Amino acid sequence: MIEKIRQTAGYIRQRVSEIPDTAIILGTGLGALVDHISDKQFIPYKEIPNFPVSTVEGHSGNLIFGKLGTKPVLAMQGRFHYYEGYDMKEVTFPVRVMKELGIKTLYVSNAAGGMNKEFRVGDIMIITDHINLFPENPLRGKNYEELGPRFPAMTEAYSHELIAKADEIARNRGIRVMHGVYVGVPGPTFETPAEYEYFRIIGGDAVGMSTVPEVIVANHASMRVFGVSVITDLGGKDVTDVPTHEEVQRAAQEAQPRMMQIMRALVEEA
Ligand code: HPA
Repeated sequence: MIEKIRQTAGYIRQRVSEIPDTAIILGTGLGALVDHISDKQFIPYKEIPNFPVSTVEGHSGNLIFGKLGTKPVLAMQGRFHYYEGYDMKEVTFPVRVMKELGIKTLYVSNAAGGMNKEFRVGDIMIITDHINLFPENPLRGKNYEELGPRFPAMTEAYSHELIAKADEIARNRGIRVMHGVYVGVPGPTFETPAEYEYFRIIGGDAVGMSTVPEVIVANHASMRVFGVSVITDLGGKDVTDVPTHEEVQRAAQEAQPRMMQIMRALVEEA
């Protein structure tokens, strides 16, 4: 695995002029951030040795190097989901490569279903913590000490400092943001009403099919992490809403300008 990580990082290094210390995984809700990145250099995933190729509708696969305002960034346009059939090592391989490239801070976004009764469709939820309900941990198997410790702590998986900064940015701009615990599930089914209820009872505020694997690996690698969810649908035992991929895309689209304002300011200031 180490050899593959180094080979991929080496390939990327010789394709771009500058390697930033900040990376953004552009999940649902942040895709349009690409339009705000200047001096862009694209590397399609299919050209990158050892990289999986993204297949899901609404996600195109490129690494993008450029500047967000004055800040050099690496953006992942399209991520790898467990439900597509990739294993946890494949899903998190790009984060391993980021670490090898020298990335120190990782920003992630996703779409999620809300269980918290205060939440409304279109809300932005800053992720304060997560519950891993994937069937496997991406760190299972041999540990490479040069990548991180065997038993990494997850007590501050989402940087408190970045959460506080994001809160301040949102407050100054009058953007409503919620805080919450993200439950990561394999998908691809949306939840039954009983499952949404169960996730709420165990302490979850929103549920989605991504993010947790990448955040585990980023923490293993001692990166600072900031994560945000767009609440695209609501679930629970009294909720009659039937979530669809189209509804999720639509709600994410609507929240995108607000997400973008927060992310952009945060990346520039942090
Ligand atoms: N459940 C799981 N994943 C999701 C949801 C949901 O309700 N909405 C968007 N992604």
